[in-house]
Amino acid sequence: MPLVNIIFAFLIFQVGIRIWFRIKPQPIPFGWTWLLENPWRKTYRNPELTAKQCGIKPTDTVLEIGCGSGLFTRALAAQCARLIAQDLEPKYLAETRAKTTDLPHVEFLQGDVCALGLEAVADVIVLISVLPEIPQPVEALKACVKALKPGGRIIISQELFEPEYVLSQQTDTWAKAAGLGKIGQEGNIWVYLNRYARVAKT
Ligand SMILES: C[S@@+](CC[C@H](N)C(=O)[O-])C[C@H]1O[C@@H](n2cnc3c(N)ncnc32)[C@H](O)[C@@H]1O
Repeated sequence: MPLVNIIFAFLIFQVGIRIWFRIKPQPIPFGWTWLLENPWRKTYRNPELTAKQCGIKPTDTVLEIGCGSGLFTRALAAQCARLIAQDLEPKYLAETRAKTTDLPHVEFLQGDVCALGLEAVADVIVLISVLPEIPQPVEALKACVKALKPGGRIIISQELFEPEYVLSQQTDTWAKAAGLGKIGQEGNIWVYLNRYARVAKT
């Protein structure tokens, strides 16, 4: 098959899968660790650099929503006093647990973020490549806002590589609807990392 046909087929597939994810947001199935942890992703999405960009203090409690296979969990845990790794899928959570058995300050929480049920526990909440997979992203963020301590921050990061990718402006819109205001942004259209804080009620 000529190269141009292969490129065309790839582009059609990319457009199709992205439209599908926008129409029907859904969690990545278990078994995609090879994709989440592929060496190429680790280069443009270095876990240590990403964790530093979250601006975590050594005394902080961090809540990582949708930790997946735990690619970022160790790097985040290295920055804080307590880390709660959360995910919908018990098998992904088990992979994260297996990667952090030597870190006693890492805890685990399984369930839907929309039913988080935590109040004022976290200084920093991190969502990396998670939010557009959730059918009710604003509800998910509202649950995160409840889990934030006063003065806390929510970090949302997305990358174009993910089929459920949304532009930074879409993330801002969801965050605003959940009562969050943007306080910072890093990256570019390929990978961005946005920081939000609760908007003070007037
Ligand atoms: C694309 S993976 C990203 C994993 C990890 N953050 C990373 O970037 O390598 C998205 C993760 O979010 C989890 N997830 C999806 N919907 C969720 C929900 N409603 N509540 C909690 N976790 C969810 C999935 O199970 C999956 O592990």
